[in-house]
Amino acid sequence: MRSVEGTPKVVSLNPDRRQSFYGRDIVSVKQFDREDLAFIMQVADEMRSIVRRVGATDLLKGYVLANLFYEPSTRTSSSFIAAMQRLGGAVIPIHGVQYSSVTKGESLPDTIRTLECYADVIVLRHPEVGASEVAARYASKPIISAGDGVGEHPTQGLLDLYTIQTELGTLEGLHVAMVGDLKHGRTVHSLARLLRLYGTRQTFVSPDILRLPEEIKQELIEAGCVVEETERVEDVIETADVIYVTRVQKERFADLHVYEAVKDYYEITPQLMARAKPKMALMHPLPRVGEIHYDVDDDPRAAYFRQMENGMYIRMALLAAVLGKA
Ligand code: CP
Repeated sequence: MRSVEGTPKVVSLNPDRRQSFYGRDIVSVKQFDREDLAFIMQVADEMRSIVRRVGATDLLKGYVLANLFYEPSTRTSSSFIAAMQRLGGAVIPIHGVQYSSVTKGESLPDTIRTLECYADVIVLRHPEVGASEVAARYASKPIISAGDGVGEHPTQGLLDLYTIQTELGTLEGLHVAMVGDLKHGRTVHSLARLLRLYGTRQTFVSPDILRLPEEIKQELIEAGCVVEETERVEDVIETADVIYVTRVQKERFADLHVYEAVKDYYEITPQLMARAKPKMALMHPLPRVGEIHYDVDDDPRAAYFRQMENGMYIRMALLAAVLGKA
């Protein structure tokens, strides 16, 4: 990997905002205001510029990240590792907790206390809602949630917001349609909450049993968003600026017959995309299991691979910010 000497030049950033991220846990998008989001997206722009110019920097040389995953992951785990390595830091990867002392019965607080003896920041993915907040209570080092059960996935929400900004050039007043498993989709929960800060119209497209939790809907309404629900993607295909498609999450269903009944509810095809706006973004947090036809991949509006790449820049920005180096 290529490396450059010294720290990158970051211009026009508010020093108070830099200070406000230092040592902070990232456990829910509810903790951010618009200034925080502008700051982190600007740092992500800088990170993208560094990676494209020279590949890496030594900004976090000497720092160690513990990457602790109790649930499977490809994108989040590998992009955090890549982010830390491109910043010159090192990683303790714990991706198969079955090979750790968790199988001997070690609790989450004790596992966190152990890892913070060796690492400066801990990334945690866990199947239980609120696990990151529990970890943060016990940790003296920053905890970054990589997704907690059906709760939130805050770093995915940030990279999704950044992708909308880079694809469409604005976040203000957009019509965003979220499609699929909105009940279990933690990425939807985080992105919908972030978009409430930008005067959006949000349409939630799902079968009845996979609707967005009422609590989140109420938060959006109280923030002044226009909130709509439908079962038909045809109702939004012609007006949406963003269509955010999600997988029906088989692993969250107690009864697999119910999963079978809804798993193929939606598929975005080239025929549907022909009716969409010429300037719009089709997004998906991935992995996909049939919700977007492969023939859509070459459509310039298909943003999901760029969205994945953006994850690394956002995570570089977050790691640098919580370690006081942005
Ligand atoms: N988007 C996302 O969280 O992907 P992974 O489960 O592969 O990390």
